[in-house]
Amino acid sequence: MDLKKLKITAQKDIKSAQNLAELNNVFKKYLGKKGELTRILRSLKDLPIKKRKTQGKLANQIKKDLELIIQERKDKLQDAKYKIQNTDFDITAPGKSPVLGHLHPLTLVRRKVAEIFQSMGFTIVQGPEVETEWYNFDALNIPKEHPARDLWDTFWLKPKNKKLLLRTHTSPVQIRYMEKNQPPLRIIVPGRIFRHEATDASHEINFYQVEGLMIDKKGKITVANFKAIIDEFFKGFFEKQTKIRLRPSYFPFVEPGFEIDISCVNCLGKGCSVCAQTGWVEILGAGMVHPNVLKAVGLNPKFWQGFAFGVGMDRLAMLKYKINDIRLFYSNDLRFLQQF
Ligand code: DAH
Repeated sequence: MDLKKLKITAQKDIKSAQNLAELNNVFKKYLGKKGELTRILRSLKDLPIKKRKTQGKLANQIKKDLELIIQERKDKLQDAKYKIQNTDFDITAPGKSPVLGHLHPLTLVRRKVAEIFQSMGFTIVQGPEVETEWYNFDALNIPKEHPARDLWDTFWLKPKNKKLLLRTHTSPVQIRYMEKNQPPLRIIVPGRIFRHEATDASHEINFYQVEGLMIDKKGKITVANFKAIIDEFFKGFFEKQTKIRLRPSYFPFVEPGFEIDISCVNCLGKGCSVCAQTGWVEILGAGMVHPNVLKAVGLNPKFWQGFAFGVGMDRLAMLKYKINDIRLFYSNDLRFLQQF
């Protein structure tokens, strides 16, 4: 090959190398062990002496020139790389962290409740929000004349003759679960429920409850077990030394039934506006599962017994986070939500 031509193409190749790897390939192509110029230099010995001298001189000069411009190009490319790293793009700068959303306070509460009960061996169960009259009322021993069955308390769905409704509590899931699962069992049911009522700071048309149910052989699960479990729950949930007390109450699906108060988590029992100066807050309905409920799912009350309870998750959240209006949970106001 003509040495001068070789020099020109080599120079072009060196110029167009865009990075160090490409440049290295150009070096190999001409100056490497099997490079074009190297081959020429090696074959000089076969030339007649006179030609060998002129060609040899030229070839060696070209070799030096190419080595020089390769070095220059190399410096330039390295410089550019350095520049990118140090001026245009600072690889040491911290990245932009993506804006994360917030978990809704009711989600935080649901997760915490689930975590505490799971640690005590309870299974989390769900049920449908659209219920039949049987599951929501009859199977739970709620009499025909009970006010909750009234059009003014419950959202009944059309067609009316089918008797479908938006469930007014999570208790129907007790029935659904016991129909399909044999005791011993312990479940909690977090879920959304619906009431047909005027809204104010403590009433909403939909809110959240957690139902609890524990059934075992007669004599094994007593009110004492219930007290221990619910005590454990409140201590874990409020992370404070809470006290509880049971008051007799009436719910059709339990016998005996009671309402549970906890010592006010706001004033620790001293008396404040949250507890109406009494030191106690009403929080939960519970009782020993009524024999009629057990019968409705085909369990013999002579052999089985247990407790059930229901607690409002909104109420738990309001107490825990000191929220004074239930409607805030459903208003999508970012000023409220971003505090969690
Ligand atoms: N279902 C009741 C309500 O919505 C709450 C309740 C009370 C649930 C007593 C229970 C219970 O399981 O034993 O008001």
